[in-house]
Amino acid sequence: MAAEVRMRTAATLDSLPWGEEFDWVDKVSIELTTGMLAILFGFPWQDRRLLTFWSDWAGDVELGLARELADTRHEILLEMASYFQRLWMERMGAAPGRDLISMMIHSDAMNHMSPQEFMGNLVLLIVGGNDTTRNTMSGIVQGLDQFPDQRAIFENDPSVIPNAVQECIRYVTPLAHMRRTATEDADLFGNQVKKGDKLILWYLSANRDETVFVNPDQLDITRENARRHLSFGYGIHRCVGARLAELQLKILLEEMHARRMRVNVTGKVERVRANFVHGFRKLSVTLSKF
Ligand code: HEM
Repeated sequence: MAAEVRMRTAATLDSLPWGEEFDWVDKVSIELTTGMLAILFGFPWQDRRLLTFWSDWAGDVELGLARELADTRHEILLEMASYFQRLWMERMGAAPGRDLISMMIHSDAMNHMSPQEFMGNLVLLIVGGNDTTRNTMSGIVQGLDQFPDQRAIFENDPSVIPNAVQECIRYVTPLAHMRRTATEDADLFGNQVKKGDKLILWYLSANRDETVFVNPDQLDITRENARRHLSFGYGIHRCVGARLAELQLKILLEEMHARRMRVNVTGKVERVRANFVHGFRKLSVTLSKF
Protein backbone atom coordinates (compact mmCIF):
# COMPACT_ATOMS: atom_id res chain seq x y z
CA MET A 1 0.00 0.00 0.00
CA ALA A 2 3.06 2.26 0.14
CA ALA A 3 2.52 3.92 -3.25
CA GLU A 4 -1.08 4.77 -2.46
CA VAL A 5 -0.26 6.08 1.03
CA ARG A 6 2.51 8.24 -0.43
CA MET A 7 0.23 9.68 -3.09
CA ARG A 8 -2.48 10.64 -0.59
CA THR A 9 0.03 12.00 1.91
CA ALA A 10 1.68 14.15 -0.77
CA ALA A 11 -1.69 15.48 -1.95
CA THR A 12 -2.75 16.33 1.62
CA LEU A 13 0.52 18.13 2.41
CA ASP A 14 0.34 20.01 -0.91
CA SER A 15 -3.12 21.28 -0.02
CA LEU A 16 -1.96 22.98 3.22
CA PRO A 17 -1.82 26.76 3.48
CA TRP A 18 1.72 28.13 4.07
CA GLY A 19 2.12 31.05 6.45
CA GLU A 20 -1.45 30.76 7.71
CA GLU A 21 -2.61 29.18 10.97
CA PHE A 22 -4.61 25.95 10.66
CA ASP A 23 -5.54 22.89 12.73
CA TRP A 24 -3.10 20.00 12.07
CA VAL A 25 -5.46 17.49 13.73
CA ASP A 26 -8.26 18.20 11.28
CA LYS A 27 -6.37 18.92 8.08
CA VAL A 28 -3.67 16.25 8.33
CA SER A 29 -4.05 13.68 11.12
CA ILE A 30 -7.77 12.99 10.70
CA GLU A 31 -7.69 13.36 6.93
CA LEU A 32 -4.88 10.84 6.43
CA THR A 33 -6.03 8.18 8.90
CA THR A 34 -9.69 8.36 7.90
CA GLY A 35 -8.72 8.10 4.23
CA MET A 36 -6.62 5.03 5.03
CA LEU A 37 -9.55 3.33 6.77
CA ALA A 38 -11.92 4.22 3.94
CA ILE A 39 -9.54 2.51 1.50
CA LEU A 40 -9.15 -0.55 3.74
CA PHE A 41 -12.93 -1.00 3.98
CA GLY A 42 -13.76 0.12 0.45
CA PHE A 43 -15.90 2.70 2.28
CA PRO A 44 -17.72 5.38 0.19
CA TRP A 45 -15.13 8.17 -0.06
CA GLN A 46 -17.54 11.09 0.33
CA ASP A 47 -18.82 9.64 3.64
CA ARG A 48 -15.38 8.87 5.10
CA ARG A 49 -15.59 11.40 7.96
CA LEU A 50 -18.45 9.28 9.34
CA LEU A 51 -15.74 6.76 10.29
CA THR A 52 -14.07 9.41 12.45
CA PHE A 53 -17.41 10.40 13.98
CA TRP A 54 -18.39 6.82 14.83
CA SER A 55 -14.95 5.97 16.10
CA ASP A 56 -14.91 8.98 18.42
CA TRP A 57 -18.24 7.90 19.94
CA ALA A 58 -17.28 4.22 20.14
CA GLY A 59 -13.78 4.71 21.58
CA ASP A 60 -14.39 7.51 24.04
CA VAL A 61 -14.49 5.75 27.41
CA GLU A 62 -15.47 8.92 29.30
CA LEU A 63 -18.37 9.52 26.92
CA GLY A 64 -19.49 5.95 27.54
CA LEU A 65 -19.82 6.72 31.27
CA ALA A 66 -21.98 9.82 30.78
CA ARG A 67 -25.43 8.39 31.51
CA GLU A 68 -27.30 11.35 29.97
CA LEU A 69 -25.60 10.64 26.61
CA ALA A 70 -26.27 6.89 26.61
CA ASP A 71 -29.29 7.11 24.25
CA THR A 72 -27.49 9.37 21.77
CA ARG A 73 -24.46 7.07 21.81
CA HIS A 74 -26.65 4.01 21.28
CA GLU A 75 -28.42 5.70 18.34
CA ILE A 76 -25.14 6.69 16.70
CA LEU A 77 -23.71 3.18 17.03
CA LEU A 78 -26.92 1.70 15.59
CA GLU A 79 -26.60 4.07 12.67
CA MET A 80 -23.05 2.78 12.15
CA ALA A 81 -24.27 -0.82 12.38
CA SER A 82 -26.95 -0.32 9.75
CA TYR A 83 -24.56 1.50 7.41
CA PHE A 84 -22.13 -1.42 7.57
CA GLN A 85 -24.96 -3.94 7.29
CA ARG A 86 -25.84 -2.31 3.98
CA LEU A 87 -22.24 -2.43 2.77
CA TRP A 88 -22.05 -6.08 3.83
CA MET A 89 -25.17 -6.96 1.82
CA GLU A 90 -23.86 -5.11 -1.24
CA ARG A 91 -20.49 -6.88 -1.11
CA MET A 92 -22.15 -10.29 -0.59
CA GLY A 93 -23.69 -9.97 -4.01
CA ALA A 94 -20.49 -8.74 -5.68
CA ALA A 95 -17.34 -10.51 -6.90
CA PRO A 96 -14.55 -10.88 -4.25
CA GLY A 97 -12.61 -7.62 -3.84
CA ARG A 98 -9.48 -6.51 -1.99
CA ASP A 99 -11.25 -4.53 0.75
CA LEU A 100 -11.53 -5.94 4.28
CA ILE A 101 -15.32 -6.32 4.21
CA SER A 102 -15.17 -8.38 1.03
CA MET A 103 -12.28 -10.39 2.47
CA MET A 104 -14.28 -11.16 5.62
CA ILE A 105 -17.30 -12.25 3.57
CA HIS A 106 -15.23 -14.56 1.41
CA SER A 107 -13.11 -15.98 4.25
CA ASP A 108 -13.96 -19.44 5.66
CA ALA A 109 -12.78 -18.31 9.09
CA MET A 110 -14.90 -15.15 9.24
CA ASN A 111 -18.05 -15.56 7.17
CA HIS A 112 -20.03 -17.37 9.89
CA MET A 113 -19.85 -14.49 12.33
CA SER A 114 -22.98 -13.43 14.20
CA PRO A 115 -24.05 -9.81 13.60
CA GLN A 116 -22.57 -8.93 17.02
CA GLU A 117 -19.21 -10.49 16.16
CA PHE A 118 -19.20 -8.77 12.80
CA MET A 119 -19.89 -5.42 14.43
CA GLY A 120 -17.29 -6.09 17.13
CA ASN A 121 -14.64 -6.75 14.51
CA LEU A 122 -15.56 -3.67 12.54
CA VAL A 123 -15.52 -1.38 15.57
CA LEU A 124 -12.16 -2.82 16.58
CA LEU A 125 -10.72 -2.07 13.15
CA ILE A 126 -12.23 1.41 12.95
CA VAL A 127 -11.23 2.51 16.46
CA GLY A 128 -7.93 0.61 16.25
CA GLY A 129 -6.88 2.31 13.07
CA ASN A 130 -8.30 5.75 13.76
CA ASP A 131 -7.43 7.36 17.09
CA THR A 132 -4.05 5.72 17.30
CA THR A 133 -2.29 6.69 14.10
CA ARG A 134 -4.14 10.00 14.08
CA ASN A 135 -2.85 11.02 17.49
CA THR A 136 0.67 9.87 16.71
CA MET A 137 0.63 12.17 13.65
CA SER A 138 -0.29 15.06 15.94
CA GLY A 139 2.12 13.94 18.67
CA ILE A 140 5.06 13.88 16.23
CA VAL A 141 4.46 17.50 15.31
CA GLN A 142 4.12 18.56 18.92
CA GLY A 143 7.19 16.52 19.93
CA LEU A 144 9.43 17.99 17.22
CA ASP A 145 8.23 21.49 18.14
CA GLN A 146 8.94 20.91 21.83
CA PHE A 147 12.41 19.47 21.23
CA PRO A 148 14.14 21.75 18.67
CA ASP A 149 17.42 19.77 18.95
CA GLN A 150 15.55 16.66 17.73
CA ARG A 151 13.86 18.64 15.00
CA ALA A 152 17.32 19.76 13.82
CA ILE A 153 18.50 16.13 13.65
CA PHE A 154 15.43 15.19 11.59
CA GLU A 155 15.84 18.17 9.26
CA ASN A 156 19.57 17.50 8.68
CA ASP A 157 19.42 13.75 8.22
CA PRO A 158 16.31 12.00 6.85
CA SER A 159 17.97 8.60 7.33
CA VAL A 160 16.88 8.82 10.99
CA ILE A 161 13.20 8.67 9.98
CA PRO A 162 12.56 4.92 10.55
CA ASN A 163 13.95 5.14 14.10
CA ALA A 164 12.21 8.49 14.65
CA VAL A 165 8.90 6.77 13.88
CA GLN A 166 9.54 4.18 16.62
CA GLU A 167 10.58 6.85 19.09
CA CYS A 168 7.55 9.01 18.34
CA ILE A 169 5.22 6.03 18.84
CA ARG A 170 6.95 5.42 22.19
CA TYR A 171 6.87 9.07 23.20
CA VAL A 172 3.20 9.61 22.24
CA THR A 173 1.79 6.19 23.34
CA PRO A 174 -1.60 6.93 21.75
CA LEU A 175 -3.43 4.19 23.68
CA ALA A 176 -2.57 4.55 27.35
CA HIS A 177 -3.68 1.08 28.41
CA MET A 178 -5.64 -2.09 27.73
CA ARG A 179 -7.37 -4.27 30.31
CA ARG A 180 -7.26 -8.02 30.89
CA THR A 181 -9.24 -10.35 33.16
CA ALA A 182 -7.23 -13.03 34.95
CA THR A 183 -8.33 -16.56 33.97
CA GLU A 184 -6.54 -18.17 36.92
CA ASP A 185 -4.85 -17.29 40.23
CA ALA A 186 -1.29 -16.12 39.76
CA ASP A 187 1.69 -14.57 41.45
CA LEU A 188 2.79 -11.53 39.44
CA PHE A 189 6.12 -10.14 40.65
CA GLY A 190 5.10 -10.88 44.24
CA ASN A 191 1.54 -9.57 43.81
CA GLN A 192 -1.33 -12.01 44.26
CA VAL A 193 -3.78 -12.01 41.38
CA LYS A 194 -7.07 -13.88 41.78
CA LYS A 195 -9.03 -15.52 38.97
CA GLY A 196 -11.52 -12.90 37.68
CA ASP A 197 -9.41 -9.91 38.80
CA LYS A 198 -9.16 -7.12 36.27
CA LEU A 199 -5.69 -5.87 35.44
CA ILE A 200 -4.66 -2.76 33.57
CA LEU A 201 -1.62 -2.88 31.31
CA TRP A 202 -0.29 0.68 31.38
CA TYR A 203 1.64 1.00 28.11
CA LEU A 204 2.13 4.65 28.95
CA SER A 205 4.00 3.73 32.11
CA ALA A 206 6.04 0.95 30.45
CA ASN A 207 7.15 3.44 27.81
CA ARG A 208 8.41 5.77 30.54
CA ASP A 209 10.25 3.01 32.42
CA GLU A 210 13.57 4.64 33.37
CA THR A 211 15.20 1.22 33.85
CA VAL A 212 14.65 0.56 30.11
CA PHE A 213 14.70 4.02 28.51
CA VAL A 214 17.30 6.64 29.45
CA ASN A 215 15.61 10.02 30.05
CA PRO A 216 12.21 8.58 29.12
CA ASP A 217 10.45 11.96 29.13
CA GLN A 218 12.76 13.21 26.40
CA LEU A 219 12.02 12.71 22.73
CA ASP A 220 15.24 11.20 21.36
CA ILE A 221 14.82 10.19 17.72
CA THR A 222 18.18 8.41 17.62
CA ARG A 223 17.41 6.41 20.79
CA GLU A 224 18.99 2.99 20.31
CA ASN A 225 16.26 0.91 21.88
CA ALA A 226 13.22 2.96 20.74
CA ARG A 227 11.81 -0.19 19.14
CA ARG A 228 11.32 -1.72 22.59
CA HIS A 229 8.28 0.45 23.22
CA LEU A 230 5.01 -1.31 24.14
CA SER A 231 2.61 1.08 22.37
CA PHE A 232 1.32 -1.75 20.18
CA GLY A 233 0.78 -4.07 23.14
CA TYR A 234 2.44 -7.42 23.61
CA GLY A 235 1.53 -11.06 22.98
CA ILE A 236 -1.22 -12.67 20.96
CA HIS A 237 -3.33 -9.50 20.59
CA ARG A 238 -0.44 -7.25 19.61
CA CYS A 239 -1.69 -4.63 17.17
CA VAL A 240 -2.59 -6.14 13.81
CA GLY A 241 -2.19 -2.74 12.12
CA ALA A 242 1.30 -1.97 13.46
CA ARG A 243 3.09 -2.26 10.12
CA LEU A 244 0.50 -0.15 8.37
CA ALA A 245 0.71 2.52 11.07
CA GLU A 246 4.51 2.58 10.84
CA LEU A 247 4.29 2.88 7.07
CA GLN A 248 1.88 5.83 7.25
CA LEU A 249 4.03 7.65 9.81
CA LYS A 250 7.28 7.01 7.93
CA ILE A 251 5.82 8.31 4.68
CA LEU A 252 4.39 11.37 6.44
CA LEU A 253 7.84 12.30 7.81
CA GLU A 254 9.52 11.58 4.45
CA GLU A 255 7.06 13.76 2.55
CA MET A 256 7.37 16.56 5.12
CA HIS A 257 11.13 16.36 4.72
CA ALA A 258 10.92 16.34 0.91
CA ARG A 259 9.01 19.66 1.12
CA ARG A 260 11.41 21.06 3.76
CA MET A 261 8.29 21.56 5.83
CA ARG A 262 8.72 22.73 9.41
CA VAL A 263 5.50 22.65 11.43
CA ASN A 264 5.42 25.26 14.21
CA VAL A 265 2.89 24.86 17.01
CA THR A 266 1.22 28.22 17.52
CA GLY A 267 -1.71 28.22 19.95
CA LYS A 268 -2.58 26.24 23.03
CA VAL A 269 -2.70 22.48 22.49
CA GLU A 270 -6.15 21.00 23.18
CA ARG A 271 -5.95 17.41 24.48
CA VAL A 272 -8.70 14.80 24.73
CA ARG A 273 -9.77 14.48 28.35
CA ALA A 274 -9.47 10.71 28.66
CA ASN A 275 -7.40 7.97 30.22
CA PHE A 276 -7.65 5.54 27.29
CA VAL A 277 -7.13 7.46 24.06
CA HIS A 278 -4.17 9.70 24.69
CA GLY A 279 -5.16 12.20 22.08
CA PHE A 280 -5.28 15.67 20.61
CA ARG A 281 -8.46 17.60 19.89
CA LYS A 282 -6.80 20.59 18.28
CA LEU A 283 -3.25 21.56 17.35
CA SER A 284 -2.93 25.03 15.80
CA VAL A 285 0.14 25.33 13.60
CA THR A 286 1.82 27.35 10.88
CA LEU A 287 4.25 26.05 8.26
CA SER A 288 7.66 27.42 7.40
CA LYS A 289 10.61 26.14 5.32
CA PHE A 290 13.77 24.78 6.93
C1 HEM B 1 0.37 4.05 16.08
C2 HEM B 1 -0.69 3.36 15.73
C3 HEM B 1 -1.32 2.25 16.53
C4 HEM B 1 -1.17 1.93 17.87
C5 HEM B 1 -0.30 2.63 18.91
C6 HEM B 1 -2.01 0.78 18.13
C7 HEM B 1 -2.12 0.15 19.36
C8 HEM B 1 -2.79 -1.03 19.59
C9 HEM B 1 -2.87 -1.70 20.86
C10 HEM B 1 -2.25 -1.23 22.16
C11 HEM B 1 -3.61 -2.83 20.68
C12 HEM B 1 -4.01 -3.86 21.74
C13 HEM B 1 -2.97 -4.91 21.97
C14 HEM B 1 -3.42 -5.86 23.05
O1 HEM B 1 -4.56 -5.82 23.53
O2 HEM B 1 -2.58 -6.69 23.43
C15 HEM B 1 -4.00 -2.86 19.28
C16 HEM B 1 -4.76 -3.87 18.71
C17 HEM B 1 -5.33 -3.75 17.47
N1 HEM B 1 -5.09 -2.78 16.52
FE1 HEM B 1 -3.78 -1.25 16.70
N2 HEM B 1 -2.65 0.43 16.96
C18 HEM B 1 -2.26 1.29 15.97
C19 HEM B 1 -2.68 1.26 14.63
C20 HEM B 1 -3.61 0.39 14.12
C21 HEM B 1 -4.09 0.38 12.74
C22 HEM B 1 -3.62 1.32 11.64
C23 HEM B 1 -5.04 -0.62 12.67
C24 HEM B 1 -5.90 -1.08 11.52
C25 HEM B 1 -5.99 -0.57 10.37
C26 HEM B 1 -5.13 -1.25 13.96
C27 HEM B 1 -5.97 -2.29 14.27
C28 HEM B 1 -5.90 -3.03 15.44
C29 HEM B 1 -6.71 -4.23 15.69
C30 HEM B 1 -7.73 -4.85 14.75
C31 HEM B 1 -6.34 -4.69 16.96
C32 HEM B 1 -6.85 -5.93 17.69
C33 HEM B 1 -5.88 -7.07 17.52
C34 HEM B 1 -6.32 -8.31 18.33
O3 HEM B 1 -7.10 -8.18 19.27
O4 HEM B 1 -5.85 -9.41 18.01
N3 HEM B 1 -4.24 -0.61 14.82
N4 HEM B 1 -3.50 -1.76 18.63
